[in-house]
Amino acid sequence: MTDQKIIQENGIVVKTVPMGTDCRKITLDSPEAFAEARPGQFVTLAIAGMDTPLLRRPFSIHSISGIKEGRCLVDILFKVVGIFTKNLSEIKNQGRVNILGPLGHGFTWPKKSRTEKSGPVVIIGGGIGVAPLLFLAQSLRQQRPVHENSRVFIGGRTTSDILCADDFTRLGYKVIISTDDGTRGEKGMITTPFHARLSDSRPETIYACGPMPMLKAVFETAAEHKVPCQVSVETVMACGLGVCLGCAVKTSSDDIKFRHVCKDGPVFDASELWMAS
Ligand SMILES: Cc1cc2nc3c(=O)[nH]c(=O)nc-3n(C[C@H](O)[C@H](O)[C@H](O)COP(=O)(O)OP(=O)(O)OC[C@H]3O[C@@H](n4cnc5c(N)ncnc54)[C@H](O)[C@@H]3O)c2cc1C
Ligand code: FES
Repeated sequence: MTDQKIIQENGIVVKTVPMGTDCRKITLDSPEAFAEARPGQFVTLAIAGMDTPLLRRPFSIHSISGIKEGRCLVDILFKVVGIFTKNLSEIKNQGRVNILGPLGHGFTWPKKSRTEKSGPVVIIGGGIGVAPLLFLAQSLRQQRPVHENSRVFIGGRTTSDILCADDFTRLGYKVIISTDDGTRGEKGMITTPFHARLSDSRPETIYACGPMPMLKAVFETAAEHKVPCQVSVETVMACGLGVCLGCAVKTSSDDIKFRHVCKDGPVFDASELWMAS
């Protein structure tokens, strides 16, 4: 998104909702420019007035839940895993969180008019990997009605890892769930029902976010069925702006061996990455 303006400002926390056992959805009252963000793009956050940790942390935009009078509400869905996410989970309403973005390249889809018939899509998320996928599903739904064969697959270790299933259902998607322990949906990894049912759906595109082994398995199924597959990739990030080169991922090409998640991604065509080599 070369002509997109990057904004840095203090957002105001207007709501925090617990999700599952260790996740939260935080809503930040932010400048309206964030409404231009594409699904799959991310922001980096720092808690205003707090020096620890030193580095900002990257988070996908989970959704834009309101736009009014030059402001917009940016939702971030996050899992508490360390110092920053713990601090973020404890911040009270009206607390200030410095937000910088939108950053990176998001998901893409073919431009079609509302009257043009569009094909089904498949969206697959593992654990906190659903974070960018709701915004994607909302944006696709805004462009055109949800195709009857579109599917959303959500996997997790146990029931409390299954996030946002009702949100996808409300948008009109058929949702398939699996948990490793069988406490919700089918028992086992989500890639199993995804693999088994892909031919019923015959999607135009597969969109995925989750752990690397899941993304690799999704890509292999997509390649087998010759369906384009876009994956949102996470790496540890320092600058988030293409300067430190710390977020390199291996590609499938011998010419350009590495791409950088913050600048070239986080969304890639899976066939460009190491999983295709
Ligand atoms: C483009 C992008 C989008 C992201 N979107 C989201 C999101 O929407 N929701 C969300 O909960 N998280 C997201 N993450 C991951 C998030 O940035 C990290 O969980 C966060 O930085 C952890 O900070 P911390 O200080 O709480 O934990 P730390 O103390 O920094 O780390 C705790 C543990 O998590 C590991 N870790 C940290 N960052 C990552 C990472 N990127 N990938 C894998 N392991 C990591 C560390 O190695 C360590 O073991 C995203 C990461 C990227 C790169
Ligand atoms: S995080 Fe610094 S270049 Fe990507």
